[in-house]
Amino acid sequence: MKLVFATHNPNKLREIQQLVPSTIQLISLDGIGCMTEIAETSNTLEGNARIKADFVTDTYQLPCFADDTGLLVDSLNGEPGVFSARYAGSKNNAEANMDKLLAKMTGQENRNAHFKTVIALNLNGETHLFEGKIDGTITTKKNGINGFGYDPIFAPNGYEQTFAELPLSVKNEISHRAQAFKKLIAYLKTINVAR
Ligand code: IMP
Repeated sequence: MKLVFATHNPNKLREIQQLVPSTIQLISLDGIGCMTEIAETSNTLEGNARIKADFVTDTYQLPCFADDTGLLVDSLNGEPGVFSARYAGSKNNAEANMDKLLAKMTGQENRNAHFKTVIALNLNGETHLFEGKIDGTITTKKNGINGFGYDPIFAPNGYEQTFAELPLSVKNEISHRAQAFKKLIAYLKTINVAR
């Protein structure tokens, strides 16, 4: 079965391809000739994941899954949330995004936050949702060089270090994204067995 992963990122595709049953062939957006930057216009992660998956299924009549991730800070009522990538304006400027968040949290004692990933899977006329979440705290300064995005200022609960200080192997075991993808893959394995 061919299954579209709504991403333009070949590394993400390769990583997940290794984990799904071998009867499932993942294809990226580029692989189906979709060069569109699908606009993420919802105010929820679930909404944006659905928009991306639905765009592909509606336009190309193909089964598809899409993910959306955000960092939600308790004391900022869930900011930056769906705006995580573009919090400081220009898309995906990680340094500027972290600087803005740290500035907003100056003097803030409640530094609790979580990362959340939602995956929407369109398969056989149904939409299935899978979620992953990791709780932690926002540090007062950037620490570490691994990873990407907000990793230097997010310390997962149970660890002293930020995601950017922990080995990638640890992050990839416990992260929001890992948890959501584990659920997706477990589901794909069950339907694979059934067919
Ligand atoms: P996306 O939905 O995976 O593109 O994630 C949206 C944004 O959330 C990214 O541009 C990052 O700013 C942030 N983000 C997502 N996942 C992570 C992570 O694992 N670590 C740090 N930041 C992340």
